[in-house]
Amino acid sequence: MGSPDLPNTPARLVVDVDTGIDDALALLYLLASPDADIAAVLCTAGNVPVDQVTANTLAVLEMCGRSDIEVAVGAQVPLVAPLMTTEDTHGPLGVGYAELPPASRAPSARSAAEAWVELTRTHPGELTGLVTGPMTNLALAIRMDPDLPRRLRRLVIMGGCFNHPGNTTPTSEWNVAVDPEAAREVFDAFSGLPDSQRPIVCPLDVTETIEMHAVHVARIAEAAESLPAEVLSPDDPRGLRSRASNMVVRHLSDSLRFYMEFHRDQNLGFLAHVHDPFAAAVALGTIQYTTKPATVDVELEGRLTRGTTIADWAGMWGREPNADIVTGTRPEAFFEHFVARVGAFARNLKLPFSNN
Ligand code: BDR
Ligand code: CA
Repeated sequence: MGSPDLPNTPARLVVDVDTGIDDALALLYLLASPDADIAAVLCTAGNVPVDQVTANTLAVLEMCGRSDIEVAVGAQVPLVAPLMTTEDTHGPLGVGYAELPPASRAPSARSAAEAWVELTRTHPGELTGLVTGPMTNLALAIRMDPDLPRRLRRLVIMGGCFNHPGNTTPTSEWNVAVDPEAAREVFDAFSGLPDSQRPIVCPLDVTETIEMHAVHVARIAEAAESLPAEVLSPDDPRGLRSRASNMVVRHLSDSLRFYMEFHRDQNLGFLAHVHDPFAAAVALGTIQYTTKPATVDVELEGRLTRGTTIADWAGMWGREPNADIVTGTRPEAFFEHFVARVGAFARNLKLPFSNN
């Protein structure tokens, strides 16, 4: 296993999300991370409509005591395609069975695309972008300011699948399938950059090995000193709610139960693929993984293949690589790290109106 492509130093991040159960987990992990400095969280339509994404994002930040972090509203719809959302995967409100207390503040006055442009102008070369939803906001920002890719220290994308089946169509991954035109514009815009600025792409090939099981939830609860023991079982009645004393554990458990039930309905077992937290750990440089450079393009025309990401690994197109694709990691090392961080954060969080 090689070294991470990103150094293990405090990272200043712009995070673009479609919160979403695993986006919420990624945010929780970043908020639990002393080596993450979040400049802004930008919202895009995807798993649920953008207003719900924004409400979820604000609620997660407020629950974690971080109402100081800017949240900006982004695209209501993809660049060209009609919006599709996936409440069957993420629940009617996007956070499974969790009922997050609504946030008491409004989002930022500027749009997500404006925030991408302005933040990278204010901090050129400093910011790591992390996109865990469709790439609509970033594509709009690059249309406004084509130099934007050069001003990012690095971009990490959760999206695509290469030598692996899709999760939306037989060959396409959700974040790309929702807005294939945006994904294509982003990959094009990052072509011709120095190797050190190539986007790091976390595809389903690897993120579907990041299987969260009931035991991981139990360990987080234990580390958080939450009572009673948090035992999620496939034999539980569907939709059973957590009684955890710790509020973070309760919401995490209620949202993950929904996600695990969804995966079980897909014959994948009582587990959850937590794609976005893995991408967040890549952005922080806190885990080991391997990458391989390739030229990535997105199919827009195919009758059956629209939204498919294609990697030219061998340079057959005669175009320089525009992505470093993550090809492997050690999932158990990721979960050891994730459980310890999130558990300790939940234990130490001083929540208003709770016994934590
Ligand atoms: C991606 O799709 C979304 O449903 C998840 O939040 C993740 O970002 C996985 O394909
Ligand atoms: Ca997502």
